[in-house]
Amino acid sequence: MAVLAGKVVIITGAGRGIGLSHARAFARAGARLVLNDYGTAPDGTGHDPSIAQAIADELGADVALANADDVSTRTGVESLMAAAIARFGQVDVLVHNAGFVNDSPIPEIDDLKWAASIKGLLGSTFLTVQAVSNHLLARKAPGQILATTSLIGIHGSAGLATYAAAKAGIIGFCKSASMELKPHNISVNVISPLAYTRLTEPMFADVPNAAELLAPDYIADVAVYLASPQAREITGQVVDVQGPRVALIRSVQGEGVAPTGGDRWTAQELHDRWSEF
Ligand SMILES: NC(=O)c1ccc[n+]([C@@H]2O[C@H](COP(=O)([O-])OP(=O)(O)OC[C@H]3O[C@@H](n4cnc5c(N)ncnc54)[C@H](O)[C@@H]3O)[C@@H](O)[C@H]2O)c1
Repeated sequence: MAVLAGKVVIITGAGRGIGLSHARAFARAGARLVLNDYGTAPDGTGHDPSIAQAIADELGADVALANADDVSTRTGVESLMAAAIARFGQVDVLVHNAGFVNDSPIPEIDDLKWAASIKGLLGSTFLTVQAVSNHLLARKAPGQILATTSLIGIHGSAGLATYAAAKAGIIGFCKSASMELKPHNISVNVISPLAYTRLTEPMFADVPNAAELLAPDYIADVAVYLASPQAREITGQVVDVQGPRVALIRSVQGEGVAPTGGDRWTAQELHDRWSEF
């Protein structure tokens, strides 16, 4: 069923892994596509424009435009938006999926590595969401925006502190964006995927059928739904997808406990009652 017929969708990181599955699934759903991929190595370095071109060629020039801009820069995002509008006249949906992992144990993180990770993951989310939402606001058009986080941004991971910081920041930024944009009929949701790709292949070396169990196509099915008119009212959500299992990620805060015998805590009472919090 062509649930996205008539929609113009930008997908970043569309040449590999989860983004490649997004591209094929959104094409099957009838969307016209701007397929962005800078063509980096897994650590975010390098540039290969043939990666975006290959998937655009596969899907055909009538529905897909290749774009190899770097979405971590404002000039790259401006160029991507200009190309999308020149080709299709408008943008209705953003799927910001581009990402990489460039991390080290904390003692070895230098300023350049920290900045590259924050800029490439969190900065690119800010720039693409701002550009697409500004475009939608100017058109007074409804729209749907998806960004990409990771369970590592929620739970942390030893050795992946810059990645975790950037991916956690994406959640805070997108929840705020969802609140600002809801009155304008623009939804903003975040997908937290787990899929077998070049980034995760080493983690699953001992799982013989990981490629099938965690196929990126599972993530794409959920992304198509969240970008579809049926899901228009869903916003501000963080959606975990691991193979066929889908779960909303909710934050949990205790009810709050007051001190006994006054309104100030002593160190001793905090210590004694820590398990109640
Ligand atoms: N694979 C997983 O299990 C998993 C888990 C959690 C989060 N994620 C996130 O999902 C997204 C996709 O991951 P993947 O596993 O498919 O990775 P991947 O390496 O297979 O694909 C990512 C693509 O993004 C592109 N890219 C990177 N930086 C870019 C930039 N600045 N501009 C444009 N394109 C750029 C790369 O060239 C690459 O083709 C990433 O944001 C990643 O952090 C993946």
